[in-house]
Amino acid sequence: MPALNSHTLIAVIGAGAMGAGIAQVAAQAGHPVRLYDNRPGAAAQAITTIDQQLAKRVASGKLAATAHADCIARLQPADSLEALADAGLVIEAIVENLEVKQALLSELEGLCRSDCILASNTSSLSITRLAAGLQRPANVVGMHFFNPAPLMALVEVVSGLATDPGVAACILATARAWGKTPVLARSTPGFIVNRVARPFYAESLRLLQEGVADCASLDALLREAGGFRMGAFELTDLIGHDVNYAVTCSVFDAYYQDMRFQPSLIQKELVDAGHLGRKRGLGFYDYREGAVRPQPNDAHSTAMVEQLIVEGESGLLEPLIARLAASGISVIRRAGSGLLRVGDATVALSDGRLASQRAREEGLDNLVLLDLAFDYQQASRLAISSAADTHALARDQVVALFNRAGIAVSALRDSPGLCVLRTVAMLANEAADALLQGVASAKDLDLAMCAGVNYPCGPLAWADAIGIERVVQVLDNLQAAYGEERYRPSLQLRRLLAEGARFHE
Ligand code: NAI
Repeated sequence: MPALNSHTLIAVIGAGAMGAGIAQVAAQAGHPVRLYDNRPGAAAQAITTIDQQLAKRVASGKLAATAHADCIARLQPADSLEALADAGLVIEAIVENLEVKQALLSELEGLCRSDCILASNTSSLSITRLAAGLQRPANVVGMHFFNPAPLMALVEVVSGLATDPGVAACILATARAWGKTPVLARSTPGFIVNRVARPFYAESLRLLQEGVADCASLDALLREAGGFRMGAFELTDLIGHDVNYAVTCSVFDAYYQDMRFQPSLIQKELVDAGHLGRKRGLGFYDYREGAVRPQPNDAHSTAMVEQLIVEGESGLLEPLIARLAASGISVIRRAGSGLLRVGDATVALSDGRLASQRAREEGLDNLVLLDLAFDYQQASRLAISSAADTHALARDQVVALFNRAGIAVSALRDSPGLCVLRTVAMLANEAADALLQGVASAKDLDLAMCAGVNYPCGPLAWADAIGIERVVQVLDNLQAAYGEERYRPSLQLRRLLAEGARFHE
């Protein structure tokens, strides 16, 4: 199904943050646009604000003056719903309330052409439910933009039970023609991004609650080792804890209290206290004037190391070994089972067991476990954790080894899967389960997480890179350690493991 042609009138209802942004996107793509809001004057005011913002972009040389003038000429405020009757596509971005949205869609159905597509920008309501009771539910589709709509690439095109596949295909093509990165999703709670991203916040919140490390260190690890733009605490401070906590609660309830989505008590406490993040000056961090931003806790060492022994195949750690060799460490290879030896220490990538447990089970002395990095060649920080009986000198030798290659070290309290590894395993598990349930394709799941929340790599492609076997092993070990079904591996992961297959061929 082709995209709507650029002469098609687009109606946008709700001139708040999202509606105004969506109207701007459609007008910049060449469509005539009418913007309606039931607050008198709100639509005209939103167009004035768009005008001022585009004028600034012209002044800074980022936009041609003609593009600005053309866009504004195409944007018209509407003072009644009747003025939207000629639209080929209506996108509603009004208050997030099922009854109010249903009433609006029903009224629009009576006013608009029979082939008019009715799209909702809802981020949490079921498209199936919104369309139920309408005369033409096949014409209803989700068109979920991200905030700010003119800047964020992702659009989730969401089909309810009755949505005509041709309508979804037309909206997909239209979003693409508007310069967006659209993905197809089935209407399920959280769609793609708001579901698959939950573990990103949840695992850091757990690590903090369990005293594994402080906020600044965990944030730094997700950024500097994980390759994410922001850590979970700085990001939720930016989003607002009221908003982020409400999304978690809504997904948790919608999945009948599946423990995988269980909200965090420490985030609830921030909400209860009114510490909503940046907008209130206080969240996990203090944003008030004069406040000093805490720095990550770096492990320091005065130990001297010159040599690294690599026993057998070191798999994912090969790029790290190459980097250490390039920094002047002499690397000696000998037969073995994938362990590294530096000074008195035995070093291994975590498999999701506690360091103390693994040391005991495998009879390893002075065990120090390593966390995952998105790219061991580039990471400027790595997390380690030590078994209870690991000598301080052995740990210091490992710290010295990484410092030598310019890598800062965060020494975490012994905890299963450290920080990045457990977060990525849980993101992959959630994406795998969404795939299992037919929410979206593997390609679209990964695309959504890269375009919608800027992940350095789609979670499924990341699982392929780590190896499905290790992801399942980490999840199994997390589940055993916590005794919680929260960490149960998705059948999709077990199936791929049994088949010897991958998410992307
Ligand atoms: P907002 O509160 O900034 O704007 C909503 C606008 O809709 C207001 O101007 C209000 O006067 C108007 N409105 C309310 N009821 C109306 C009605 N019956 N008829 C006409 N206009 C009406 O809200 P925001 O943030 O723009 O969100 C709008 C929708 O977009 C919601 O469904 C929300 O869940 C969704 N969304 C919000 C995102 C965000 O980050 N803010 C991201 C993605 C989706």
